[in-house]
Amino acid sequence: VDPTPLQDFCIADLESKSPIINGFPCKKPADASSKDFFFEGLTKRGNEFDTLNVNLTQVDVFAFPALNTLGMSMNRVEFLPGGLNPPHTHPRATELSLVVEGKLLAGWVSTEYILYWKVVSAGELFVIPPGMVHFQLNVGEGRAQFYASFNSQNPGISKMAPTLFDSIPLIPDDVLSTAFNLNDSVIQLIKSKVAHLG
Ligand code: GLV
Ligand code: MN
Repeated sequence: VDPTPLQDFCIADLESKSPIINGFPCKKPADASSKDFFFEGLTKRGNEFDTLNVNLTQVDVFAFPALNTLGMSMNRVEFLPGGLNPPHTHPRATELSLVVEGKLLAGWVSTEYILYWKVVSAGELFVIPPGMVHFQLNVGEGRAQFYASFNSQNPGISKMAPTLFDSIPLIPDDVLSTAFNLNDSVIQLIKSKVAHLG
């Protein structure tokens, strides 16, 4: 949920050397041209899938600098069969998503630890309240994809597994073995498995 703009637009100057307070400094409005307001990075299907069989294309302010100060952005998430967009949060935005292909089991967990979920298919929307942990699993036979819109130019993605088990430096084993009521050896095993997810 971003602040409201104070001018028509403020195309981010991502290279600017001026100090960054919040968001990015603007390019001079006179230097703006039509091409700044269009983005072609979603015209093709993704062809590189990660170890969880997902391709994520983030169209945030870094990819599309005209979004600077406009309080919105979009992601496309594509899944091979069985692909998982693993439990994560967007610390700065609500997510409103439109499924365009396939069948996804989409769910999120509230701060009361209630899981809300449904198998969604093309044409259906789902909403994730700001900061809530959520995931989507491709449960169909073929590929699946959805478009997520966010009310922030930079919603951020914080994934649960690397946050807890693959941070730099690592969280000490004692913290995690106590938190999860597990032996250190199990924590070390989980850390090594999560590190391999890349
Ligand atoms: C959707 O969950 C996304 O992270 O884009
Ligand atoms: Mn998400």
